[in-house]
Amino acid sequence: MKDKLQTLEEMNRLAELGGGEKRIEAQHKKGKLTARERIELLLDHNTFHEVGKFVRHREVQFGLDKEHYLGDGVVTGYGKISGRLVYVYSQDFTVFGGSLSESHAEKICKIMDMAMKNGAPIIGLNDSGGARIQEGVKSLGGYADIFYKNTQASGVVPQISCIMGPCAGGAVYSPAITDFIMMVENTSYMFVTGPNVVKTVTHEEVTSEELGGASAHSIKSGVTHFTAANEAVAIQNIRTLLSYLPQNCEMDSPRYDYKTKESEVRKQLADIVPDNPNQPYDIREVILGCIDEDTFFEVHEAYAENIVVGFARMGGKSIGVVGNQPAVLAGVLDNDASKKAARFVRFCDAFNIPLLVFEDVPGFLPGTDQEWNGIISNGAKLLYAFCEATVPRITVITRKAYGGAYDVMNSKHIGADLNYAWPTAEIAVMGAQGAAEIIFRKEIKAADDPEAKLQEKIEEYTEEFANPYRAAYRGYIDEVIKPENTRERLIAAFDMLRNKVDKIPRKKHGNIPL
Ligand code: COA
Repeated sequence: MKDKLQTLEEMNRLAELGGGEKRIEAQHKKGKLTARERIELLLDHNTFHEVGKFVRHREVQFGLDKEHYLGDGVVTGYGKISGRLVYVYSQDFTVFGGSLSESHAEKICKIMDMAMKNGAPIIGLNDSGGARIQEGVKSLGGYADIFYKNTQASGVVPQISCIMGPCAGGAVYSPAITDFIMMVENTSYMFVTGPNVVKTVTHEEVTSEELGGASAHSIKSGVTHFTAANEAVAIQNIRTLLSYLPQNCEMDSPRYDYKTKESEVRKQLADIVPDNPNQPYDIREVILGCIDEDTFFEVHEAYAENIVVGFARMGGKSIGVVGNQPAVLAGVLDNDASKKAARFVRFCDAFNIPLLVFEDVPGFLPGTDQEWNGIISNGAKLLYAFCEATVPRITVITRKAYGGAYDVMNSKHIGADLNYAWPTAEIAVMGAQGAAEIIFRKEIKAADDPEAKLQEKIEEYTEEFANPYRAAYRGYIDEVIKPENTRERLIAAFDMLRNKVDKIPRKKHGNIPL
């Protein structure tokens, strides 16, 4: 028995050593943690249970019959984050560069199956040289198995990918299907084809970091939702993100203790919107003024900054916040902003997270660039996402709600439950100047002083339409509220909507304009 125990101990030791001391040292030298160190940081202390620790590859070609590492380059299992069950896989770069073999893929698929059956989030810590070259198509098949399961799991349990090293070629498509991607600055990159291929095909000279580093994907492509200065911060971000999410699509997010204060009046909200309707302000000030203190967790912070999205809590409960950002491009909706917000809205709806929308939008961005890049279909994505959302949905119009964008931004007409407006709201087909120039064109042209006439007509139009009352007369706005009372209203409204039941018609699935 003693011998047998010794054998087991030795096998455990070897499995935990991954690719060996030298490669661990090399990993640390790059400023990276090992697969196991990452899991230690991610999970509550002493809660990790490994699954498939002794799995080995079955390849015999290219000398691999003589090179085996227990675990085969990925550590998989389950544990707890803030006391709640999660499944995790962590690729081990010290074993064949974390490359994905058939067995490696099977291990990942196994815990994904467990996560789906038991209804808990899946977290992938990616650090891999891609397909295990020696295994050829078996490895490619392994990737496809993972993509398939990612898709099956989509909308069932939250899926989070954290890129902590290379992630190239086909490997990128698993994170891409998951709900959220996190990247570490300077030590991670993602691309479909690397700098060498890019140079051959397009003659562009670009480094890995420029092509697919954290900043490229957080600012330019929007592929990553979060970036972190180092691995520890990235891992903490995963824990924070999960605190807003339910375990699966059948559950609600955890409720945090919150005692409603005697007064929830927030005086600071009264002074945020400037008197001049063309002057910008930061919608984050409005968001922060309305939500529970220190609970805003912004998603896609550096991408399409003309719209702000993120998680927060209202009276201790998770909500998803979407706000036009007047401080960037006047808060206009463009291709990127529409796509960013649409995906966020769909995530929240899939996982029972109520939506709060702050609206100050002058319309859609004009121009050939926007039209030729599909603002019609992209704007429709956001419209569709709101239309199909059945979670509690509230809108607060702080200032402009112009044209088609008024409809899109969670208007009453597309199913919002409660629509509030501040007295500064202007709900109209367009801004007063544009409107006056069109509808009074003849009158202005015929006037002795066309400029004075235009001003007169702008004032007339402003008086008539640049307010929330026409919409309130028709019930499109449920209440015009003072800014300082917004938080109070929202707490009560979300509480009232707590048991909302709404269903979309039975169908196989909708056909969102992708
Ligand atoms: N398959 C098999 N082994 C791989 C591998 C792969 N896809 N990628 C890396 N490895 C191995 C390397 O052979 C090396 O083994 P060793 O420790 O026994 O020498 C180890 O992983 C580390 O790789 P190394 O190249 O030394 O690390 P690096 O940090 O300098 O570079 C990469 C990392 C990912 C840029 C580089 O390894 C690479 O280009 N890999 C191939 C990527 C690829 O084309 N993948 C297939 C298509 S998806």
